Amino acid sequence: MTSFFMRTIKTFFIRTYGCQMNELDSEIMVGMLEKRGLTRIDDEEMADLIILNTCAIRDLAERKVLGKLGRFGKMKHHRPVIGVTGCMANAKKESLFQKVPMLDFVLGTNNIHELTTVLDEVLSEGKQVHRTDPRFEHELDYTIAKRDDPVKAFVSIIRGCDKFCTYCVVPYTRGPEVSRDPDSIIAECAQLAANGYKEITLLGQNVNSYGKDIPDAKCRFHDLLYRIDKLKGLQRVRFMTSHPVDITKELMEAIRDLPTLCEFVHFPIQCGSNRILRKMHRVYSKEEYLEKVAALREIVPGVALGTDIIVGFPTETDSEFEETMSILEKIEYDTAFIFAYSQRKGTPAMRWKDDIPEDVKQMRHQKCLELQNNITMKRMQSMLGQEVEVLVEEVSERDSSYVKGRTRTWKNVIFQGSANLVGTLQKVTIHSFSNQTAIGNCSSLAPSKPEEREEHKHAAHPLVIKS
Ligand code: 5AD
Ligand code: SF4
Repeated sequence: MTSFFMRTIKTFFIRTYGCQMNELDSEIMVGMLEKRGLTRIDDEEMADLIILNTCAIRDLAERKVLGKLGRFGKMKHHRPVIGVTGCMANAKKESLFQKVPMLDFVLGTNNIHELTTVLDEVLSEGKQVHRTDPRFEHELDYTIAKRDDPVKAFVSIIRGCDKFCTYCVVPYTRGPEVSRDPDSIIAECAQLAANGYKEITLLGQNVNSYGKDIPDAKCRFHDLLYRIDKLKGLQRVRFMTSHPVDITKELMEAIRDLPTLCEFVHFPIQCGSNRILRKMHRVYSKEEYLEKVAALREIVPGVALGTDIIVGFPTETDSEFEETMSILEKIEYDTAFIFAYSQRKGTPAMRWKDDIPEDVKQMRHQKCLELQNNITMKRMQSMLGQEVEVLVEEVSERDSSYVKGRTRTWKNVIFQGSANLVGTLQKVTIHSFSNQTAIGNCSSLAPSKPEEREEHKHAAHPLVIKS
């Protein structure tokens, strides 16, 4: 197909909504477009091509995108090519063209490898194009991703989800679980380490399912972690997100034993009532979940925990909501993301009336947030006077004499320092807090050689909090 792509489109603007998987997909799309000679710009009014990489997880996320698209329609100066990618593309497909007539293409999460061919079609044929495959089954060149962050990188290991929680659109927008070939993951991680990246976060809707669909590869999630840990140069490995039923003893032991693997597990409970958990199709009970927490805390003392919570699920009573509050108090998560239930078209939960009034949802949301903020602060207070290991990520935007980073347990820390510390591990003694950021003084260089890291892993962890 002859294209006038190179002549007519020179600049692009991309905006990402939603999760880390979308951030990574955007980085891949940026890499593809730059390889084609386009330049990324920050001014959407000037861009020849605008891409909104969207999220469909809650109604608010969709409304933000539709509002933004509406404003593009009113652009006076020029008529850019406009594309919607991401989960909303899969959820709405070609119906988006009726909603937003000036839209040029709709490209689903499983089709981003087709971005430049779709653009060619739009430009040469002047028609609206949509591609929204229900399953991820193509080779995607992950190495093309253009990463802005020089220290941390996302690496996709599994796409899609087979869990079918009744409230969630992901199994319908991203399709079934498809694990990536382990050798290709290892090659990408090795390349990232060679390029100076210090931390990688392995991404998937449910990373613990990794490998189940490719039995011949004989590589389950924990096997992959052991392989990645051997790579030279990487200091930290994180992963998200985990489904509680798939958190295995092998994984807990890997967190205990692998020097690179950080002591932070985000494994959402969603709510504290067994009746609602069943209705959500979470396939574990509160008691089973608590057993996992106890095992994790026993095997990995000092492990930090994170969760997601949904309040106002259909039929949730006041006392069931209180069970969620109690579970937050009991577990004392280090971080929790709290969401008000949002009805999603096409999900099994649509069969139930969205019967919790908005003001009740908002009140429950607020109560949960307040409780969790206090718990988060309490967990952070235990860092006072402690020396923690911080991977320095960037110079503070507010004050360039400070640098920012995170502990292994994902706590934000700032301390006085300059740009030459970015990408290094530092030991920092915490003396105070500002909101949910710890403030400290840098004591000395932390260990960074693998053998020293090993020693460090087995030393008493500074954030040990016995439950
Ligand atoms: N309404 C509210 N929150 C939702 N989540 C997923 N679907 C919905 C929904 N329909 C939340 C869950 C999930 C997180 C990524 O988003 O808590 O873990
Ligand atoms: Fe959605 Fe449940 Fe899959 Fe998470 S595990 S992506 S909440 S269906």
